[in-house]
Parts: sequence; C-alpha cells; structure tokens
Amino acid sequence: MQKGRKRIRLLPRLRRPSLEAGWKFFRQWMRSPREMSALSPSSRELAHKMTHELLKSTRRVIELGGGTGVFTRALLALGIEPPDLLVLELNQTLSVHLKQAFPDVVVECADAIDLERIAADSGWLAGGNADAVICGLGLLAMTPANQRSVLTAAFAVLAPNGRFILFTYGPANPIAREVMLDLNLGARRGGFTLKNLPPATVYVLTRNRSKRVQPQTRAR
Ligand SMILES: C[S@@+](CC[C@H](N)C(=O)[O-])C[C@H]1O[C@@H](n2cnc3c(N)ncnc32)[C@H](O)[C@@H]1O
Repeated sequence: MQKGRKRIRLLPRLRRPSLEAGWKFFRQWMRSPREMSALSPSSRELAHKMTHELLKSTRRVIELGGGTGVFTRALLALGIEPPDLLVLELNQTLSVHLKQAFPDVVVECADAIDLERIAADSGWLAGGNADAVICGLGLLAMTPANQRSVLTAAFAVLAPNGRFILFTYGPANPIAREVMLDLNLGARRGGFTLKNLPPATVYVLTRNRSKRVQPQTRAR
C-alpha cells in the first residue's frame, strides 16, 4: 500500500520528462533520420558507460550532438560545472530544448565541424582547453571526410592528453582507418551495453604519443 502510493507520486516526476524528450527526439528523427541517426535518445546506462571513461581530473567537457540532454544530465550529475560544459547541437528544436533544460550550460546551435570557431567565438575556450569531448554524433553514417573534419576540430580544442569518447552501434571503431592514421590517433574499446536501443559500444580516441613514421623508398 505504502509502496503503491509512493510510486503514484513519483511517476509524473520521474517518467514524464523522459517520455516528452523521447517523443521530441522521435519527431526530429521523422524530419531528418540521417542527422538524428537514432530513433530514440540514448539510455542512462549508455550515458554511464560514456562518462565512466572520463578521467577523475576532468573539469572542462564538450558534448557534440546533445540531443535531448541524456549525456548532458549525466555530466552535470558527475559534478562538471555548467559553465565548463559546451554543448553543440545542430537541430534548432533540440538546441532550444537544451537551452531551456540547462540554462547555465553553454549550448550552441551549430555544426560539430565548426567546433573550433564556436568554442573561440562563444568565449568558452578562454577558460581553457577541453579535457574531454563526449560525442553523440552518428559517426558510423558519416563519410571519412566528415569524420576527419569533426575529429580535427575536436582535437584542436582538446588538451594534449584529452580524450574523445564516442559510442557506436557497430562492431568496431566507426572511424575510418585512414583517418585514424592521418590524425595519428589510437582507439581503445570501452564499455558495452545491451540496455540501449540499439545496443552500443563505447570507444576512446587519444593522440598517439609517438610520431607517425612515413614509409620511405630507398634510393637505388
Ligand atoms: C544519435 S543522436 C544522440 C543524441 C544524444 N547525445 C543522445 O545520446 O541521446 C545525434 C544528435 O546529434 C545531432 N547532430 C547531428 N549532426 C550534427 C552535427 N554535425 N553537429 C552537431 N550536432 C549534430 C542530432 O541533431 C542529434 O541530436
């Protein structure tokens, strides 16, 4: 009886916002499925697997493709200060949603490819480089050229030991091999969760410490 009463009181507070957010996300997916690249927002379990890859010392974070704010919420819950969090979201409706839901977070309606300029122009970069980029973009569906542009922009604003944390619905790192080689990046497989639609795996990209050696042809 007690339990029943408690559930009735908690339901509207706990469930309604995520249902509303899910519906908002789905409507945007119907308008531009390629850009959204998922039918529904990521699960809290995936958000946990993503934020688990942050170093304890992490202070400043950039989120790409904020959607309805599942990762944003998880980052704030971990103690990232709202002004230390910059979120880029290309979809106008979702960026307005994010601004309303997280008024102290720096939210910009912009393309991830323009991250370097946006971070500078918004004044966010004046507070220092990012310790991590949390990527919510559908990287698997991008061309290698677009992947390269996003990663080049991200690593331009990341601190030297900064990490780029992404998730994929595929079986491997979604970044094209040539892009990894050209940008001298290394990938580590992180967590995996079945509790996401579809199940997802996390990868962490970092700069390789050693310089890339160019193959040389011997003079004859
Ligand atoms: C797969 S959804 C992920 C949303 C959210 N992070 C989550 O996990 O629920 C991808 C999001 O990236 C946004 N997006 C797609 N291309 C983008 C781009 N080039 N720059 C910024 N955001 C983009 C979409 O509008 C969408 O909200």
